[in-house]
Amino acid sequence: MSELNLPATIFLFFTFVSISIAADTLTPSRQLFDGETLVSANGTFALGFFSPSGTTNRYLGIWYHNLADHAAVWVANRRSPLNNLNGTFSITVNGSLHVLSLGNSAPLWSSPSFPNSSPNFISQLLDSGNLVVRAVNSSSILWQSFDYPTDTMLPGMKLGPYLTTGLDRNLTAWLSPSDPSPGNYTIGIYAEGVPQLVLRTSGGWLWRGGPWNGFGFSGAGPTQFYDISLYRVFLSGFNVTKEEIFYYFNTVNGAITTLTMDHNGTIRRNEWAASSENWNIDWLAPSDYCDFFPACGTNGMCDTSSSPVCRCVEGFDDDFMLVPGAKLPDTREAVEDMSIDLDGCRARCLMNCSCQAYARADLSQGGIGCIIWTAEIIDLRVYADGGQDFFVRVAEMSLFQFTQVVNATNNFSNANKLGEGGFGPVYKGKLLEGEDVAIKRLSARSGQGVEEFKNELMLIAKLQHRNLVRLLGCCIHAEEKMLIYEFMPNKSLDLFLFTDVDRGRELCWTRRFHIIEGIAQGLLYLHKHSRLRVIHRDLKASNILLDADMNPKISDFGLARIFDANQTQENTRRIVGTYGYMSPEYAFKGLFSVKSDVFSFGALLLEIVSGKRTTGFHEFGSSCNLLAYAWVLWNDETWMELVDPALDKQFRRDEVARCIYVALLCVQENAEDRPDMSDVVSMLGNENLCFHGVKEPAFFTMKIAPDSKHPFELHVNNSFNQLSVSVVAGR
Ligand SMILES: *[C@@H]1O[C@H](CO)[C@@H](O)[C@H](O)[C@H]1NC(C)=O
Ligand SMILES: *[C@@H]1O[C@H](CO)[C@@H](O)[C@H](O)[C@H]1NC(C)=O
Ligand SMILES: *[C@@H]1O[C@H](CO)[C@@H](O)[C@H](O)[C@H]1NC(C)=O
Ligand SMILES: *[C@@H]1O[C@H](CO)[C@@H](O)[C@H](O)[C@H]1NC(C)=O
Ligand SMILES: *[C@@H]1O[C@H](CO)[C@@H](O)[C@H](O)[C@H]1NC(C)=O
Ligand SMILES: *[C@@H]1O[C@H](CO)[C@@H](O)[C@H](O)[C@H]1NC(C)=O
Ligand SMILES: *[C@@H]1O[C@H](CO)[C@@H](O)[C@H](O)[C@H]1NC(C)=O
Ligand SMILES: *[C@@H]1O[C@H](CO)[C@@H](O)[C@H](O)[C@H]1NC(C)=O
Ligand SMILES: *[C@@H]1O[C@H](CO)[C@@H](O)[C@H](O)[C@H]1NC(C)=O
Ligand SMILES: *[C@@H]1O[C@H](CO)[C@@H](O)[C@H](O)[C@H]1NC(C)=O
Ligand SMILES: *[C@@H]1O[C@H](CO)[C@@H](O)[C@H](O)[C@H]1NC(C)=O
Ligand SMILES: *[C@@H]1O[C@H](CO)[C@@H](O)[C@H](O)[C@H]1NC(C)=O
Repeated sequence: MSELNLPATIFLFFTFVSISIAADTLTPSRQLFDGETLVSANGTFALGFFSPSGTTNRYLGIWYHNLADHAAVWVANRRSPLNNLNGTFSITVNGSLHVLSLGNSAPLWSSPSFPNSSPNFISQLLDSGNLVVRAVNSSSILWQSFDYPTDTMLPGMKLGPYLTTGLDRNLTAWLSPSDPSPGNYTIGIYAEGVPQLVLRTSGGWLWRGGPWNGFGFSGAGPTQFYDISLYRVFLSGFNVTKEEIFYYFNTVNGAITTLTMDHNGTIRRNEWAASSENWNIDWLAPSDYCDFFPACGTNGMCDTSSSPVCRCVEGFDDDFMLVPGAKLPDTREAVEDMSIDLDGCRARCLMNCSCQAYARADLSQGGIGCIIWTAEIIDLRVYADGGQDFFVRVAEMSLFQFTQVVNATNNFSNANKLGEGGFGPVYKGKLLEGEDVAIKRLSARSGQGVEEFKNELMLIAKLQHRNLVRLLGCCIHAEEKMLIYEFMPNKSLDLFLFTDVDRGRELCWTRRFHIIEGIAQGLLYLHKHSRLRVIHRDLKASNILLDADMNPKISDFGLARIFDANQTQENTRRIVGTYGYMSPEYAFKGLFSVKSDVFSFGALLLEIVSGKRTTGFHEFGSSCNLLAYAWVLWNDETWMELVDPALDKQFRRDEVARCIYVALLCVQENAEDRPDMSDVVSMLGNENLCFHGVKEPAFFTMKIAPDSKHPFELHVNNSFNQLSVSVVAGR
């Protein structure tokens, strides 16, 4: 340390005559004083003391030697400036770099030392702008400034964490243009989940560049980092190894490019323009409202080309909605699997209740790998141009915690019990967010209904329509299985029609017609417009739930079946359904098809018009049942007698007539004679409908069944007389 005691004259000489020591290397016997510089071998970079504009404080830094702009790209003592020109920069015999103030032995800044080895250490400023420490006789780098970036990333540098040491190469903004000390903004690679580029402040995340998609960061914008042919100056990449995760870029064609984290929170990419002797900013972020994290919140989608910029991710018929041009959402809780393709990804997502979305992991090489999101999607944005395909699960199913359900139902208290559902009790619950829900609990011990539960879960999760009850999620806890639905304050249609006379009066004709149309739409969706062809098999008044506005929602998919695209009917020996709604071919032969649902719809329609159950001990004149009664009245042109007296003659004759006519078409004996649901929907809405002949309904000469509103299971032994009947479950 003899250098510290240099005579003042020598010190002054070095101070006032600014010279470069014409070398790129520092040795323990050769230190650097303020005013001197190290210059890299080919003259690209220089290292020395400098003052930022607006201050006289001195810092040791590195800058582009040959550019008009000498702004520092790296600062050593960013937290500890000198306030005079007495600074020195040296390397100790132990390999530690020191920034010192003459006369003080405690360094203002230092790098680690290597006391257990005894080579001759040197420090060298490389042409890349990297200041390195190594042994004089070795090329292996012991320490480098590239591992400790300040606010600027240079070509050849790596941004991202070392997984072995935890050292994180991030860019931290200056506090202000005149103060290099660490400011509020840091950009780096966030390694949790699927690694992504994140700009953070002390207050949280400000902007996400998103995960690397093979070409660039998903959220860096339409053109940024993309298309190497357009941005030939900027050949970038992203590597994940056992030791480190990093983003890097290289300069090509001699262009000078840097990435800077600005004091005011802007991350910008700069390219030197020789003609104007200035930096051109060719990209920056955050650049618009959608860039701020998270701009639109849960299930929102941000699009600056639309107004308002925030929209909901809307449900479609399919399992997933394709969002093209998307910036991939937060990947902290996402998982990546490079071994499966997009189809595999979809299948994996469908099998997992908590899966919210998926997308390709890597767009290069024609697309490989997959990312699956299990957390809420809170910061989806789309670009009018750019981005990538993103598949959001539209049923928005979520997995509820058992404790949440216990809390919501007061530990399944009797006070919360709404009744018995198809496979167990149904509870009313209130989630902490205040939302009312209905919770179907499959009793753990019964062992019955597991199939129905799985069936319902799988099916309804894929279906979404305003006339189908919405499944919010499921909860699986040890042996317990629960389905959580939106709560229907007006319970079910049968209560209005058959149970409560006052409520029956509330159900004026306009409402009834609205309900009929809604059920028809829901059924049409099941049969035709959903991606799957679904046969409900247990359509009846008690399975039509009513929301606060009396909109009908078809519920209870425990018995529903999915048909293949080409399949028209199926034969089962386990006939499950409810008397009075079952078509003859189903009840007697176990054959079901869309036409057996159409039959149930017809029976239901007659119930809504008449306020009477198809089954039971009503007086139907000389007829055996409601269907026969309606047919007789229709042919006698006395169908007005069928209409529910609760309506007090307040109804539209044309609509009622249409409903009865359509209902009679639906309950015809032969399945082929019955219309399909698209015919039904168009006939119900057709004010000029012509009434052609209707054939005799099924069960014309038969009393349908004992008073029954429960689903029954029939075991067919070839002849009707040997039918055995059992109750599947109370409802
Ligand atoms: C440091 O520099 C100041 C002037 O800038 C001078 O007055 C002072 O003597 C110097 N200190 C040492 C230890 O050289
Ligand atoms: C170098 O390391 C040795 C052993 O740790 C220590 O005694 C010595 O003071 C160090 N020298 C300097 C200049 O730091
Ligand atoms: C480098 O030099 C040191 C002594 O200065 C010696 O101990 C070491 O073995 C040498 N290493 C190589 C790779 O030559
Ligand atoms: C200096 O060296 C660097 C790194 O090898 C290279 O990228 C750059 O083009 C060189 N510059 C000049 C002026 O030769
Ligand atoms: C930036 O890197 C430093 C050094 O590894 C680390 O201490 C710091 O936590 C990192 N900052 C952020 C926001 O990740
Ligand atoms: C850092 O920035 C964030 C976001 O702009 C702000 O909320 C926070 O208050 C800032 N913190 C400080 C210390 O300036
Ligand atoms: C990144 O990984 C690729 C392929 O593993 C390799 O060819 C390339 O050299 C790596 N890039 C850097 C900068 O390490
Ligand atoms: C941030 O600072 C840079 C340069 O200091 C400037 O170009 C840019 O306009 C500033 N951005 C904002 C949002 O203030
Ligand atoms: C669903 O995915 C999450 C996240 O990958 C995983 O932790 C969980 O075990 C999966 N659940 C099932 C039932 O596979
Ligand atoms: C549900 O949670 C809320 C908030 O933690 C608590 O106040 C309430 O007592 C809980 N209810 C039950 C039944 O545990
Ligand atoms: C809920 O009820 C069960 C059985 O009645 C009981 O074992 C359990 O401790 C209760 N849990 C809470 C949170 O009250
Ligand atoms: C459905 O029918 C079409 C044409 O008859 C046929 O090409 C296709 O393979 C069938 N699909 C299935 C799943 O049977």
